[in-house]
Amino acid sequence: MSHPGVAVVTGAASGIGEATARRLAADGHAIAIVDVNAAGGEAVARSIGASARFYGCDVADAAAVDAVAARIERDLGPARVLVTAAGLIPNAESILEMDMAAHDRMWQVNYHGTVHCCRAFARPMIAARRGAIVTLGSINSRMPLPIPAYNMGKAAIERLTQLLAVELGRHNVRVNSVAPTYVMKPPLRAKVEAGQRDMTKIMSVHALAKLPEPANIADAIAFLCSEQAAFITGILLPVDAGWLAGVSYRTYAGGVPWKE
Ligand SMILES: NC(=O)c1ccc[n+]([C@@H]2O[C@H](COP(=O)([O-])OP(=O)(O)OC[C@H]3O[C@@H](n4cnc5c(N)ncnc54)[C@H](O)[C@@H]3O)[C@@H](O)[C@H]2O)c1
Repeated sequence: MSHPGVAVVTGAASGIGEATARRLAADGHAIAIVDVNAAGGEAVARSIGASARFYGCDVADAAAVDAVAARIERDLGPARVLVTAAGLIPNAESILEMDMAAHDRMWQVNYHGTVHCCRAFARPMIAARRGAIVTLGSINSRMPLPIPAYNMGKAAIERLTQLLAVELGRHNVRVNSVAPTYVMKPPLRAKVEAGQRDMTKIMSVHALAKLPEPANIADAIAFLCSEQAAFITGILLPVDAGWLAGVSYRTYAGGVPWKE
């Protein structure tokens, strides 16, 4: 095989998944884009070129994930890399007032979808005794934030990542998670412009003075998938511009004021 193996990226029709698909393609992988958004997924595949193909699939549907995994193996070969970036991102809401159907769907897509994909794509990695999986956590994996099903689901994804790392480690398959802070993308930009997000407040709890873009998250994911990370497994790597450090620091009397 002339390329370093097949990389399956879920949620690659946009955002972090798209940036990751582009980055892994640049690293030489053949790319399988798995997403519910056919128009977006096809467009990303076309713009990457012949090394990328789009596969329509709802990751919440375990049977559909198994079927797409079989198709990808038939078309492109066994998966060597899996990145689970498919997900739904809600707004803040109260647990007492939240819509339970939306709550269940969030779990189905974000948590169960991750489980379905890890199970389906770990099988060829175990058979080949080689593979790397990166799940999408979040700063929500570590701290309570007021987006209930999302927040708890991201904490569960960190634990899932650890359990899988131990279960698959003997087969030479590594499993890690990345935990981005707010990622600067068009939806966040639009919310800031519409006055729904206050960048001064957001930045006051970050150590760095700017937020990452999808390509910055893709860099961390590509590292975890690479041979440079050969002995890294079971970790959650924050890509958070110092949010985890800053958010507790600022609770102590507001912290020491910035000196520009
Ligand atoms: N954007 C952020 O600030 C941020 C921060 C931390 C973590 N994350 C995580 O990163 C991941 C990607 O987020 P993003 O910002 O790129 O979001 P995005 O909305 O740009 O991309 C998510 C993709 O997932 C796809 N998708 C949604 N439901 C699906 C389903 N059921 N089956 C298959 N595909 C589905 C969408 O079509 C979309 O292409 C998510 O897991 C998110 O929780 C994002």
